Amino acid sequence: MSAATAELVLPSYLEQSIEVKHSFRELKARPPVLEIARLGKDFATPRGVVTALSEVSFTVHKKEFVSVIGPSGCGKSTLIRLLAGLETPSRGCVSLDGKSVSGPGAERGMVFQSYTLFPWLCVRENVMFGPRLRGVARDVARTKAGEWLELVGLTKFADHYPDQLSGGMKQRVAIARALANEPRILLMDEPFGALDAQTRCDMQSHLIRIWDNVDLTVLFITHDLDEAIYLADRIVVLAAHPGRVAEVIEVPVPRPRERAHFLSGPFLATKERLETLIYGR
Ligand SMILES: Nc1ncnc2c1ncn2[C@@H]1O[C@H](COP(=O)(O)OP(=O)(O)OP(=O)(O)O)[C@@H](O)[C@H]1O
Ligand SMILES: [Mg+2]
Repeated sequence: MSAATAELVLPSYLEQSIEVKHSFRELKARPPVLEIARLGKDFATPRGVVTALSEVSFTVHKKEFVSVIGPSGCGKSTLIRLLAGLETPSRGCVSLDGKSVSGPGAERGMVFQSYTLFPWLCVRENVMFGPRLRGVARDVARTKAGEWLELVGLTKFADHYPDQLSGGMKQRVAIARALANEPRILLMDEPFGALDAQTRCDMQSHLIRIWDNVDLTVLFITHDLDEAIYLADRIVVLAAHPGRVAEVIEVPVPRPRERAHFLSGPFLATKERLETLIYGR
């Protein structure tokens, strides 16, 4: 093999540096927050039963960041709706901190692709909404909302209304609003899917900074391979028809991650594996 060819050979995505191996050993020793066991979901349609998910099992550990990726229609949104308790499983179960999930709850924070802020409330009131609903005193909720808004960099916009904000800012308020309920896990369904490329990059870095600063576990659905790798400790790859786990990848890229890592051997090897699993190339 010539020197030029040798330079193009990627390491295996299964190859982990000592540092990465150590971080996974530490991660797996943490208690599980979310356990998904043999989860299945069927939908009755006029054309018969559609099995959206079949035999999906994986665990998310405390302070872990898990991305879920897969082709359109493989059941990503169905999975997150089951985890949120917005749908009932046809088979299997979901447990949070060892307790079976049977409906929506404040311990699971949700951020969707579409902007879901209350347009009639200002930014601060949007963030205070959940805690107020749970009976937190107004002045306490207001002070806490100020802290969350500082964390997402929106202190100056606390009195603005959602229609005065950009898409990226709205999603930062949505994240602050979800965090204000102090959830055990943040469930995010393509939250940056509607943003332009530059804002999307900024939001990814921002989310990682928040995750670094807060005791937070995240399950993040995306279509975007770079986004999945940049953000996640592990990536759950789903295959379609029926939606099922094709593989769970331990991302071999060390943290803290920089944009420069996008061209590193471990990053490109992971991307190549994702392309093979998702697009068969
Ligand atoms: N309420 C429903 N009734 C009938 N079929 C449904 C329903 N919700 C989802 N499905 C079907 O289940 C499968 C998975 O859908 P889902 O929306 O979870 O996919 P997805 O991976 O989120 O897709 P996308 O990447 O396009 O967002 C699809 O075949 C879809 O048509
Ligand atoms: Mg979806």
